[in-house]
Amino acid sequence: MIIAVDGPAASGKGTLAAGLARHYGLPHLDTGLLYRAVGLAVRAAPGSTDFDREAVAAARRLDAAHLTDLDRLTGAEAGTLASRVAVIAEVRQALRQFQRDFARQPGGAVLDGRDIGTVICPEADVKLFIEADSKARMERRARQWEARGQLVDRYALYHQIEERDARDRANPHGGFFRAADAHLLDTTRLDIDAALRAAVAIVDGVLASKAASP
Ligand code: DC
Repeated sequence: MIIAVDGPAASGKGTLAAGLARHYGLPHLDTGLLYRAVGLAVRAAPGSTDFDREAVAAARRLDAAHLTDLDRLTGAEAGTLASRVAVIAEVRQALRQFQRDFARQPGGAVLDGRDIGTVICPEADVKLFIEADSKARMERRARQWEARGQLVDRYALYHQIEERDARDRANPHGGFFRAADAHLLDTTRLDIDAALRAAVAIVDGVLASKAASP
């Protein structure tokens, strides 16, 4: 079974995808980490031609060993750089096969990102599109970073999230939209446990209706 979980930054999609993977005993790939690792590997300044060239080279070199330093990969700098390399078509293309291979391993997998249900796995058995309003997403991210002992400027973080959303949604190569067969889950007013229960109910519902149809 392949489960695709898409949604904007800090919508809770990563936590939900990890929870679904545990619940159904499937491997999980947070595809944002790939873009984050590519962003951190680039030395040139964003906007320069070297930036694009280095990003494409880094995406072609990327393997699982680049995905281990989670503290650095999940920080703010990596997030901003990731959304900048994510607009480069050749970067997306270079990362596509890695994601597809992961999804198509025997038994299936859970992948979360922006374009899993639309580009990477349009054939996924279940697609979830996670939403949450910007303030709720900012507050979640702030608490995550504060739990690691970081000082957080909530005003700056809110604008960072809005700016990243705008870039991700406008990305002409991004495939970041709700697939017609994706189930919408708004987590604004749900805590992690309630959101996971709602996601499991959606997946179980899809599996039951598939089992019932001839
Ligand atoms: O989900 P995240 O915040 O870790 O993603 C970081 C950036 O990577 C995000 O701004 C857009 C990009 N991304 C993407 O374009 N496609 C994906 N499947 C995953 C992430």
